Amino acid sequence: DLELHPAAYPWSHNGMLDSFDHASIRRGHQVYQQVCAACHSLERIAYRNLVGACYNETEAKELASETMVEDGPDDNGNMFKRPGKLADYFPSPFPNEEAARAANNGAYPPDLSLIIKARHGREDYVFSLLTGYCDAPAGVEIREGLYYNPYFPGQAIAMAPPLYDDQIEYDDGTPATLSQMAKDVVTFLTWCAEPEHDDRKRFGMKAMILLSLVSAGLFYFKRHKWSTLK
Ligand code: HEM
Repeated sequence: DLELHPAAYPWSHNGMLDSFDHASIRRGHQVYQQVCAACHSLERIAYRNLVGACYNETEAKELASETMVEDGPDDNGNMFKRPGKLADYFPSPFPNEEAARAANNGAYPPDLSLIIKARHGREDYVFSLLTGYCDAPAGVEIREGLYYNPYFPGQAIAMAPPLYDDQIEYDDGTPATLSQMAKDVVTFLTWCAEPEHDDRKRFGMKAMILLSLVSAGLFYFKRHKWSTLK
């Protein structure tokens, strides 16, 4: 078996008390929007979700308004198109799975909303997949329309290498190297799969502090009450 196991990368959000790197989420959204969105949907994310995570309300409204959304029926029973609003979900690149397969040599680009949780290896796997394309070793034949990737189960993936150096221009000026874009889009997709992440860790910390105070108090109270009984 030629499958490689991904390395364990030091994601800055991995620690028990670490929040996401929100500047990286924002860059990762740019990567998704300008590269991945051509083939992959992100059905569970609405523009309003971006507010406070990586854009302010004005910016998110503007992003939403750049898309056209089917709405209706109007008073005459007709469907119509209008600019997107905060409440709209991200548009999908294809109307259905058949159309997606037809455009991708028969392969289906999966929805990326939960991909980080759905794949064994999570962030490390998707980062390795995006950065791991290379020539097939001598003797390994790859079928027409497939690409060699040692991290993909079976090593022959229908997704062409999606990222290359300087493919996009980040709005914060960060150099858009292949590995930078892979790291940022993985951080963005991790936030998509787990938007409650920061709140969960903050709540966990509060719970630990509160519970230790309460248990210290209860312990003292119990010893005090029982001190007369020997
Ligand atoms: C599969 C991510 C861009 C077409 C996948 C998978 C991931 C992924 C995580 C699933 C791999 C697995 O099943 O383990 C991304 C990201 C992109 C990107 C983060 C942007 C940086 C694209 C683009 C296209 C595309 C632009 C089309 C031109 C596909 C196809 C598959 C796939 C067809 C199915 C592969 C197979 O099952 O053999 N992608 N992708 N992807 N992607 Fe992408």
